Amino acid sequence: MQKSTSLITTAHELLAKHLQPGDIAIDATLGNGYDTLFLAQHVGPEGKVFGFDIQSAALQSTQEKCQRAQLQERVRLIQDNHANMPQHIPDSLHGRINAIMFNLGYLPGGDKTIITQFDSTLIALNAAIDLLSPTGMLTLVAYPGHQGGDQETEQVTHWCEQLNTAHFKVKIYYSAINKDSAPRLFVINKIQS
Ligand SMILES: C[S@@+](CC[C@H](N)C(=O)[O-])C[C@H]1O[C@@H](n2cnc3c(N)ncnc32)[C@H](O)[C@@H]1O
Repeated sequence: MQKSTSLITTAHELLAKHLQPGDIAIDATLGNGYDTLFLAQHVGPEGKVFGFDIQSAALQSTQEKCQRAQLQERVRLIQDNHANMPQHIPDSLHGRINAIMFNLGYLPGGDKTIITQFDSTLIALNAAIDLLSPTGMLTLVAYPGHQGGDQETEQVTHWCEQLNTAHFKVKIYYSAINKDSAPRLFVINKIQS
């Protein structure tokens, strides 16, 4: 899997401008917790970040990072498939999530056979856009360069294409490496009609 530091940096830059103190955010793929830590830093003491991963190693790694930064009070980690996200988010917060991040693929430094799967990714994406606030932002980094990742990226692209353009604005950022297998960043903004 191609490392895409610059696309992740782009996602962070866009979200840093978008997030406000007190916001609620979701990290749909915890991994090593860099995105959760970033979100926790930007929602402020009144905000909250919900984080999901299927692997306990990801929760542990994220927990350690947040504890070191003394931000654990703002973070709630959930070991479950992100397809089940709505069941874990209090009903009162549905439609009030200002930012949701996905970073697909496998846990860096972990088991490379445990990867996101397009069927559950699409269920999670559909749930995510319902959870977003009327002006919420969703970012997703996809990696077509690894087995399964190409099909997943294609499915995500099709999913974006069928979004109602009256309600969503989609922008795709490509990595500097000009190859079909290079990672890409999808940024979806909900727009008020
Ligand atoms: C590329 S990593 C995420 C990197 C992370 N955001 C960071 O900042 O370090 C992808 C993660 O997705 C997780 N994952 C795979 N399938 C999942 C699913 N269905 N639901 C939730 N997490 C999943 C993997 O366990 C892995 O930790």
